[in-house]
Amino acid sequence: MTADIAPFYAIEISRLAHALKDQGRSIIHMEFGQPSTGAPKAAIEAAHRILDSDGMGYWESTPLKARLAKHYLDSYGVSVDPERFILTCGASPALVLALSAGFRPGARIALARPGYVAYRNVLKALNMVPVEIPCGPEVRFQLTAEALSALDPAPDGVIIASPANPTGTVIGPDELKAIAEVCRLRGIRILSDEIYHGLTYEAPARSLLEDAPDAWVVSSFSKYFSMVGWRLGWCLAPESHLAAARAYVGNLFLTAPSLSQHAGLIALDSRSELDGHVETYRRNRRLLLDALPQLGLSRIAPPDGAFYIYADIGHLTDDSLSFCKELLNDTGVCTAPGIDFDPVEGHRFIRFSFAVSTAEVEDAITRMVPWFKAKSL
Ligand SMILES: Cc1ncc(COP(=O)(O)O)c(C=O)c1O
Repeated sequence: MTADIAPFYAIEISRLAHALKDQGRSIIHMEFGQPSTGAPKAAIEAAHRILDSDGMGYWESTPLKARLAKHYLDSYGVSVDPERFILTCGASPALVLALSAGFRPGARIALARPGYVAYRNVLKALNMVPVEIPCGPEVRFQLTAEALSALDPAPDGVIIASPANPTGTVIGPDELKAIAEVCRLRGIRILSDEIYHGLTYEAPARSLLEDAPDAWVVSSFSKYFSMVGWRLGWCLAPESHLAAARAYVGNLFLTAPSLSQHAGLIALDSRSELDGHVETYRRNRRLLLDALPQLGLSRIAPPDGAFYIYADIGHLTDDSLSFCKELLNDTGVCTAPGIDFDPVEGHRFIRFSFAVSTAEVEDAITRMVPWFKAKSL
């Protein structure tokens, strides 16, 4: 029997938005966490050159793995053998790889609810059991060591995302250490999704590898590096499971795109351009946070990272999908419904992505203020 997988409703809304665009409507796409900035210029230039000279065979770039190891040393002070990096087509296959090679069917994997839609669905597709921990605004929608200690029986694994999707909240360093310690004591294997690292507005994010050297880590070039469509990411497998992970990747996915590996190597040295995008997101975040009271939205956890705001709209609706469709139809502002991230409470939440231009954020606010005011009458 196939697993019962829920659709990704933001995709449905996005389709609707594109249909409206085709009819000549002006649409602001705030439904996906997708940078609109494109790959770093130097990476694109390198890709043009390499396209003419490389045969583009199956390939895993040794220089890229070595450069990623340097990135971990520079960013987190963690020394990682370059051979532990498995290059993938983004964090999505890296997640499938880590779960398949790290756990058995039937494994119970804890995760925060709300959380990224694919966690729950990939676990189900792999015949694993999601153990969702409700995480409300009082814990800034994040897992805590206390919640993990309280699970009985202990789960086999836990997925940690800091900064998280859909909230952008970060788990502080002390709490991360406490989580790592609980997992060590209870034999819970950690899978850390670090895809939003680089996109933080206060302190830089901490890698789980700093506190749990045997954690699985997945990440990609889709967010900070602004290379969504290049489909490049990585999975860092613990030594104990490296051979298994290599066997899985060879059979399930083979290699990541060669051109993207060449470009990714250059992107890792394009920080000043990429940090400029972070400054745009910082401005966008501020604009939205300042505007939310005018929309009557006060129940949020301000994001420390990523490019999302997850807001409680429970005073306006108990059907976030219809609400997002109505908002789109009336104003052209496309957002994601909370049910994508939380099947229980998500019907009263909405996610705004501010990975768009500042002008678009300003325009969206101008359109939404009167609409939300009219809704709350
Ligand atoms: C938390 C999280 N993990 C993983 C992914 C998958 O990203 P990709 O496959 O583009 O690297 C996303 C995409 O939005 C995400 O939000």
